[in-house]
Amino acid sequence: MDDGYVLPVPLTGIVLSLLLACLFNILKRRQVKSKELEPRRDEVDHLEATLNALQDSTIAIRASKAGSATLKNLWRLNNPFVSDSPELQQAYRRALMKTFSKTDNNAWAAIARSAAVSLEPFLRHRYDNGTYTITANVKDISRHVALVAVLKGLFDIDHVPTDTLMYIGSEIHRLTVGKKQYDAGASRPDDLPQDLQRAADRLIDILRGVFSEAKESNELARTILCSVSGTPDHFNPLDLVIPAFEAPWRGVYYTLLAVLQPGLSKPDAVLALRDSAADRPPSPAALAIAYESLRLYPPIRRVRREQRVDIEAVQRDPQYWGPTADTFDPWRFLDGKGEINTTLIGPGSAWMPFAVGAMKCPSAGGYSARMIAVLAGEVLRQLFPGTDRPQWTMDGPEWDSAARTGQALRAGRDEYASVSVIASMPS
Ligand code: HEM
Ligand SMILES: *[C@@H]1O[C@H](CO)[C@@H](O)[C@H](O)[C@H]1NC(C)=O
Ligand SMILES: *[C@@H]1O[C@H](CO)[C@@H](O)[C@H](O)[C@H]1NC(C)=O
Repeated sequence: MDDGYVLPVPLTGIVLSLLLACLFNILKRRQVKSKELEPRRDEVDHLEATLNALQDSTIAIRASKAGSATLKNLWRLNNPFVSDSPELQQAYRRALMKTFSKTDNNAWAAIARSAAVSLEPFLRHRYDNGTYTITANVKDISRHVALVAVLKGLFDIDHVPTDTLMYIGSEIHRLTVGKKQYDAGASRPDDLPQDLQRAADRLIDILRGVFSEAKESNELARTILCSVSGTPDHFNPLDLVIPAFEAPWRGVYYTLLAVLQPGLSKPDAVLALRDSAADRPPSPAALAIAYESLRLYPPIRRVRREQRVDIEAVQRDPQYWGPTADTFDPWRFLDGKGEINTTLIGPGSAWMPFAVGAMKCPSAGGYSARMIAVLAGEVLRQLFPGTDRPQWTMDGPEWDSAARTGQALRAGRDEYASVSVIASMPS
């Protein structure tokens, strides 16, 4: 646009600025138009490229990547994430699908009850100046209920002492962060720092104790832990606990943070989760919240393939999610009748929190979405009992003005660790 727009010389300031304003508008409109006309190649291909990268891969390629070696060495794993054996992968998929299909409404109700009981030590009750409050650290309760649910739901392990559960949850997290730091700077995966390795071995020992009965009485533990991946005398619960716990606890965590974020003037998502009973399939609204949480805050942001595949980037691309791509808006998943719009989560869509292709997460068929809905729902039922309109505030230095003004939350490993929710009931 370098052709001359010749301005008449003798003009008053007002006319001149009016003309400039018009000119500016014309230029702006042209820019918008040319953006619409020329397809932006990089963005048009973004989804397709991501889908292809995920589909054209094998477990052998995934296992050959650098991060896989430290994963295997540190946790002493022998599971699909580190193995190149298609037989082992299929055995995991079969056994998990069988377990998931046996998890009926009663089983979910039992999982929710275990979660509720386990929360008790984490809720600080107070009666102060006419107001009753319950305070809880959001990260601690998310991690705790997810671990309880995994042990109960997959292995029928219940009544593990709170201290042991806290140790397991925090140690898995601490070692995961340590491993990531090590991966970022390390060249020799065989040479893990000794303190990390010792801590991991101690964790495995303690978990073996927790699984001492289940390894005989529970079918999933017997087939996968003690037969496919190990033996009854030498088995490693982490082979299943790591994949079943690491992603779901973060799913629960960000779901809670996201529904609590808007504050009590917008309680609709909090209410939808609280009021979706655990012993019935989740309501469409509760599912929509889980789907939106998995879209905006995918627990697994990138996966290892030939190149790293960035799931989070596609799931936040305005090309597919519109101008509100960076906003937490569960209702985008509902159609006009209040049902889930399955096009948005179906094959070929830009929603892929469980990856796609041969290594897609076995829990993608609904188990994990229900787990998030049930656990976030149970936490909210404990914080906001009954049917009253919930009232709460968020507290902690990390709950900064960005969080308070509704911007997308930061997705890093250790974010918001000190943030508490304070639920209050006037009485
Ligand atoms: C919010 C919950 C979950 C999310 C977002 C999630 C996500 C994923 C993703 C992205 C992958 C592909 C990883 C890769 O290729 O590197 C995966 C694989 C896998 N996930 Fe999940 N997952 C979740 C829950 C679970 C649960 C509850 C279990 C087990 C009970 C589980 C077991 C597995 C297994 C065994 C694989 C490997 C599958 C294969 O290679 O064939 N996941 N998951
Ligand atoms: C008690 O509540 C009242 C009204 O909300 C407030 O003005 C007062 O400062 C509170 N007192 C204490 C000790 O917190
Ligand atoms: C479902 O989502 C797709 C993709 O955004 C959209 O084209 C379609 O109109 C939606 N369907 C309904 C019934 O809302």
